[in-house]
Amino acid sequence: MIITIDGTAGSGKGTLAKSIAKELNCVYLDTGLLYRAVAKSLLQNNIDPKNQEQAIKHAQNLDYSLLESKDLRTEEVSNGASIVASIGEVRTALLEYQRNFSKNLPKDRTGVVLDGRDTGSVVCPDADVKFFIDIPVETRARRRVEQYTENNIQTNYDEILQTMKERDARDASRDVAPMIAPKNALILKDPTLTIEETKNLALNHIKTTMQ
Ligand code: DC
Repeated sequence: MIITIDGTAGSGKGTLAKSIAKELNCVYLDTGLLYRAVAKSLLQNNIDPKNQEQAIKHAQNLDYSLLESKDLRTEEVSNGASIVASIGEVRTALLEYQRNFSKNLPKDRTGVVLDGRDTGSVVCPDADVKFFIDIPVETRARRRVEQYTENNIQTNYDEILQTMKERDARDASRDVAPMIAPKNALILKDPTLTIEETKNLALNHIKTTMQ
């Protein structure tokens, strides 16, 4: 069973994907981490993520142990990831890893859950169940500020809102594998649902689809 969850920045894809994977005994891949690892690899070598030639080189020779890095979620890495993700050759270099992951399932697991921007449209177009999350950017920015505040990280709502809008626009407008709601995806866009309610709705949808 392959389940894909795509959607906008900070929409809660990861939280939903992890909880579904746990509930259904699936393995989980956060595909955004791959783009973040490429950005990190560039930044730690003082290379601008806009340098296409270097971005391609770093994606093709990616040290996958970087996926374990602790600081892949900084604003700098997030923006860098969105920039390198618009380069076709970077995407091609990361595609095989994602497809292999979805095909080589450990025997004791029932399926795989992937989250990202193109997992239902490009990485696994034949996935069994697809979701697309798109809640208002103001809600997402507010939640991000709350997370930072809880972790004692200084933050500014207007800046977060602005960078989220820029990332969404870049992710949705690029020529290669833009962020789109895949055909047949269940679209989750109600910002009033709690994490638990969203999870239950998704699990019911999976149950009905797989019957
Ligand atoms: O899901 P995320 O915010 O961690 O992703 C970081 C960036 O990576 C995002 O701005 C766009 C890119 N990305 C992508 O283009 N395709 C994916 N499948 C996952 C992420």
